[in-house]
Amino acid sequence: MALRKIIEYPEPLLRLTAKKVDVFNDELKILVEDMAETMWDAPGIGLAAPQVAQSIRVIVVDITEPDEEKHYIALINPEIIEHEGTQLDEEGCLSVPELTAQVQRYKKITVNYQTEDGESKQLIAEDRFAVVLQHEIDHLNGVLFIDHLSPLKRNLYKKKRKKMLALEQTC
Ligand code: NI
Repeated sequence: MALRKIIEYPEPLLRLTAKKVDVFNDELKILVEDMAETMWDAPGIGLAAPQVAQSIRVIVVDITEPDEEKHYIALINPEIIEHEGTQLDEEGCLSVPELTAQVQRYKKITVNYQTEDGESKQLIAEDRFAVVLQHEIDHLNGVLFIDHLSPLKRNLYKKKRKKMLALEQTC
């Protein structure tokens, strides 16, 4: 396993619609393992392939319960096919430095996906797990959590980020 570089807003690669995966080979399995390692190293609880500059429909999500050894699930070509209710929860993103904000999401979702081996599966997620999945699936469509904020909050962040980047360049 190897760490991959996480790209950050406003990198244009984050805005692409990621391509569907139709080849389930070793390269895919290595990407999934690297993504899990990169997620835990960050540390984060979810990561989408576009965040490591791979514009394909792959996400990993940490599903470790308290007092459990760390493990994750990889979802290839995930698709929300049903949803119920709404919830408001605090989100952040490894590709959107130094911001957390409340985002409204579905409370409960049903997701169709494939495993790293190409096997078709379905899962039902609620609460925080549902939030993470919706956030990561958004990444596959070029959507960032800041897109769910009010234009005012989004513009404030854009300005802050510009200043951060200008500082990085002068230091
Ligand atoms: Ni994110």
